Amino acid sequence: MSVISIGNPKGGAGKTTLAMVLADQLAENGVNVAVIDADPNAIIAKWAAKRREAGKAMPYTVVPRPTESEMIQTIERLAGEHSIVIIDLEGAASRMTSRALARSHLVLVPFNQSPFDAELAATAVALIHEEGEALGRRIPFRLVRSRDSAAIATKTSKRIASAIEEAGLPVLTVGLVERAAYRDIYEFGARMSELDGSSTSGLPKAQENAQQLAEAVIATLKEEYA
Ligand SMILES: Nc1ncnc2c1ncn2[C@@H]1O[C@H](COP(=O)(O)OP(=O)(O)OP(=O)(O)O)[C@@H](O)[C@H]1O
Ligand SMILES: [Mg+2]
Repeated sequence: MSVISIGNPKGGAGKTTLAMVLADQLAENGVNVAVIDADPNAIIAKWAAKRREAGKAMPYTVVPRPTESEMIQTIERLAGEHSIVIIDLEGAASRMTSRALARSHLVLVPFNQSPFDAELAATAVALIHEEGEALGRRIPFRLVRSRDSAAIATKTSKRIASAIEEAGLPVLTVGLVERAAYRDIYEFGARMSELDGSSTSGLPKAQENAQQLAEAVIATLKEEYA
């Protein structure tokens, strides 16, 4: 059983997208997954509602945003029943976020490839360190490149990559590429495997990226808890 929080106080960093793609791919691989939708925008809960209305089966358990005082109990209950619990955190530092971090085996911090966002990702890392200090344990984390360009590494993204390396911050080997499929799953209340390649461009590449991402996350858990 592993709890993975997806956090970055920067709004729009790609947290919800990463949570949905990772949960879907892990479920595709036969993993028993639950997602806690702690994002006040309730994107994943709305996605689940679309599926229920359309009579489609749920590939993974979706639990809507608990209250601050319910958070720990919710994580513990789900962790008892699932192999992986993913928590899609809100785009702000809060006590709710802090409670989720405290119960996490791994925190993923997606960040957009802009200097502004890279600085804010450093703030997210500081929060994880602070929480770890309070708990007296190290909370493993990885930065995750978000909306990674499939083909080109721009000069900006190269500069950001070297600044992150100099700061000694660990980055997941696979980033989430910018793909239409990752927006279409929400729009159509779909799973990646249910999308139609003729209306979603680049679908096979998106599926390949999702699989590599899921493998990298599992490998990171093994590395940290070997
Ligand atoms: N890899 C991607 N490919 C395509 N679109 C993406 C990708 N990542 C993010 N987006 C789009 O960028 C926007 C912001 O992403 P998302 O909602 O996942 O961020 P967030 O960090 O959860 O935001 P918030 O802080 O508001 O919760 C959304 O419109 C989403 O569809
Ligand atoms: Mg979100």
